Amino acid sequence: MRILSIESSCDETAAAVIEDGRTILSSVVDTQIETHALYGGVVPEIASRRHTEAVVRVTEEALQRAGMTKNEVDAVAATCAPGLIGALLVGANFGKSLAFALQKPFVPVHHIRGHIAAVYLAYPELKPPFLTLIASGGHSQIVMVRDYTTFEILGGTRDDAAGEAFDKVARVLGVGYPGGPKIDELAQTGDPTKYKLPHSQIKDAPLDFSFSGLKTAVINLAHNAEQKGEALDREALAASFCRAVVDTLVPRLELAVKQSGGKNIVCAGGVAANSFLRAALTDLAARLGLALYLPPLSLCGDNAAMIGSQAYYEFLAGNTGTTLQNAFATAEIGENVCIKR
Ligand code: KG4
Ligand code: ZN
Repeated sequence: MRILSIESSCDETAAAVIEDGRTILSSVVDTQIETHALYGGVVPEIASRRHTEAVVRVTEEALQRAGMTKNEVDAVAATCAPGLIGALLVGANFGKSLAFALQKPFVPVHHIRGHIAAVYLAYPELKPPFLTLIASGGHSQIVMVRDYTTFEILGGTRDDAAGEAFDKVARVLGVGYPGGPKIDELAQTGDPTKYKLPHSQIKDAPLDFSFSGLKTAVINLAHNAEQKGEALDREALAASFCRAVVDTLVPRLELAVKQSGGKNIVCAGGVAANSFLRAALTDLAARLGLALYLPPLSLCGDNAAMIGSQAYYEFLAGNTGTTLQNAFATAEIGENVCIKR
């Protein structure tokens, strides 16, 4: 089964053709980073307009690279939640309309389920159940993936997502947007022990965490240094921040592994590209004798290949949409985003 998939939840317009959920026949990502970098962050209305301009071109390119015409696809899928609503509506409505015109099934996909499915593309042997650490721009959660379409949230952030914290700290350090990759790069040569940064503890919720205290500590450090006219060691602060994020996320995943007895762990989302997080997860897996599945860097950020992979399993589970399908800015991973009425 070959699914044409569309992703437009934030600042990448993407289309892909995926065979049986596991093989990438083509994957095209058109990023808007340069546009939003001018403003220091994603401007939602500009993102929607750019998706509107790019979606047909990106889809045609994905079909062409897969060596197919649109009539040869078996279904059309699109991210329908969660994300920027104006951005989501472009891909969701385009995908639904294309499916309607082609008289093919339409498969609505939850964006974070898609991020997890990125590992199915990289590891053909991997099947649920497994534990997942989700670390993206909008989400940070520990999720038990019971089967391809059944998810249980075990813990998560009480405030900012990991990627959000990276982006805010990057702004304070003046390294620009998107912050994650730039902080990661800056941190490579920094001393991670130089700045003592706080670690969150949530009473009676050992798998939950918070990033707002950490973010505020970095902002205060930067402002105090500025007021006193002191030079900030930006490399060391970036390294100390990366270490604090890793020390927040990885011990929680370890606890979840011990509580659930699972042997397979996955990390998904844009922050899964972080070199310090990847190294710490590799150490954890070696120490506890776990199998670790990390998406390749090319599949960590937003793309449509991961949406096409998850769409295959949603289709098999009967989760196809109707012409009433809508998009939603928020939806928990366990929610079915399909409109059946
Ligand atoms: O999953 P994603 O592409 O979009 C969402 O669904 O939110 O994640 C984007 C986030 C951004 O906050 C970006 O700064 C962060 O992932 N990110 C990173 C790295 N690469 C991307 N954060 C830390 N280290 C990286 N190397
Ligand atoms: Zn994403």
